[in-house]
Amino acid sequence: MKTAIIGTGYVGLTTGVALAYLGHEVTCLDVDAAKVENLKKGISPIYEPHLDELMKLASRNLKFTLDAGDALRDAEVVFIAVGTPSLPDGNPDLTFLKSAAQSIGEKIASPYVVIVNKSTVPIGSGNWVESIVRDSYRARHAYQGSGFVVASNPEFLREGSALSDMLYADRVVVGADDPKALDVLRKLYQPLLEQTFEAPAFLPRPEGFRAVHFLTSDLQSAELIKYAANAFLALKISFINEISELSEKVGADIQHVSRGIGLDSRIGNRFLQAGIGWGGSCFGKDTAALISTGKEYGLPMPITQAARDVNTRQRARMVEILMSELKILKGRKIGILGLSFKPFTDDLRDAPALEIAKRLLERGAKVVGFDPVSMDRARKEWGETAIELVSNAEAVFSESDAVLLVTEWPQFRTIDFAKCAAQMKNKLILDGRGHLDSTQMNQAGIRLITLGRATR
Ligand code: UDX
Repeated sequence: MKTAIIGTGYVGLTTGVALAYLGHEVTCLDVDAAKVENLKKGISPIYEPHLDELMKLASRNLKFTLDAGDALRDAEVVFIAVGTPSLPDGNPDLTFLKSAAQSIGEKIASPYVVIVNKSTVPIGSGNWVESIVRDSYRARHAYQGSGFVVASNPEFLREGSALSDMLYADRVVVGADDPKALDVLRKLYQPLLEQTFEAPAFLPRPEGFRAVHFLTSDLQSAELIKYAANAFLALKISFINEISELSEKVGADIQHVSRGIGLDSRIGNRFLQAGIGWGGSCFGKDTAALISTGKEYGLPMPITQAARDVNTRQRARMVEILMSELKILKGRKIGILGLSFKPFTDDLRDAPALEIAKRLLERGAKVVGFDPVSMDRARKEWGETAIELVSNAEAVFSESDAVLLVTEWPQFRTIDFAKCAAQMKNKLILDGRGHLDSTQMNQAGIRLITLGRATR
């Protein structure tokens, strides 16, 4: 099917490449000329494992353009995958969504077009998008009955595993008030729903994985599923982090507690990894938007608010523990291992590392940071901060009064800690992700403090 994707960010590009790989004719539209030029050369603007390889395999079905007409003229399905970043009041900024809807109204011409909201949008936006498309369509054509309808198809991709999350999804959720739109999308996703596509060698199909649930609903339910799913995942993390603080006080080990409750099949062991808590472009934005929607209806959403409050506290706790250990932060040199909000991505949005670094800088400390992948992005996006960015993990230890592990990159476990310890002014590591081995640290003569474990 002829498919257009508006927006080539994490969601848009991943969706476009995967659909092209499934055999659809996909045209990705963006406003950023440099990004489109690179994409035409097969260079992805984001670090997402295997995306470049899948782009190559799908290249004959994949086009990139700056021209809306080129992308939309023949499209049967149009995905809106533009950013909806948070405004200061917690509401999402819908500027990009509005301009996408306007250009869709101007350019679509197929007899029946399904316009799919892939961006995370406030509940009830589907109708709003439809009215913008209709106004913009009618403003430029006599109403020639170009039928279109707006559907919601929320994404559940995790950065760093976006392609496997899409190709081997737990479920595809589609919301629309017109059954015909649901049929079109079922057809579009069929190879994925029935797992009939050839699994890429670098993204093998999980053992015994045969089919993907296709859940259809009305528009509002699909939009709410997205918010509720993210809020629950964020809550699960904040819950184990709340327990981790108590666990430190009572001398328990949160890794055991997490494993003990996670073995209950009703709870499940995922998203129970205690630590600094969540960052990224979604959990913060979606919980804020859910609370803001609740407020519109006079609902306080206390549990979602609590998830946010606990998460904010986790970052402060890293600084509190450091202050209790070092007493004075002014003039101290603190190293930070890991800048991206999680491993296997270069995304720095709402990265705990930045907030922690800012709190340390405010207290007069010197901050030195390293990340295996996001250094270029950090230089661009954090250039105006006083964070010193170094070219390797070991440089973070030189003359440091403490080192904080903020992102659990696997390569941080293979650092030569004995050699690094010799360069530290004060042999202290604060592990914000329960990532480092205490025996290894003891052997290197390093005092290790792990969030969620009592300090010995
Ligand atoms: C999330 C949702 O998982 C995904 O379904 C949605 O579509 C987009 O938002 P993402 O933000 O990319 O995906 O990453 P995720 O793996 O969910 O991690 C989010 C944050 O939670 C990260 O900062 C991670 O470090 C943290 N996290 C995750 C924990 O602190 N503990 C955990 O157990 C899991």
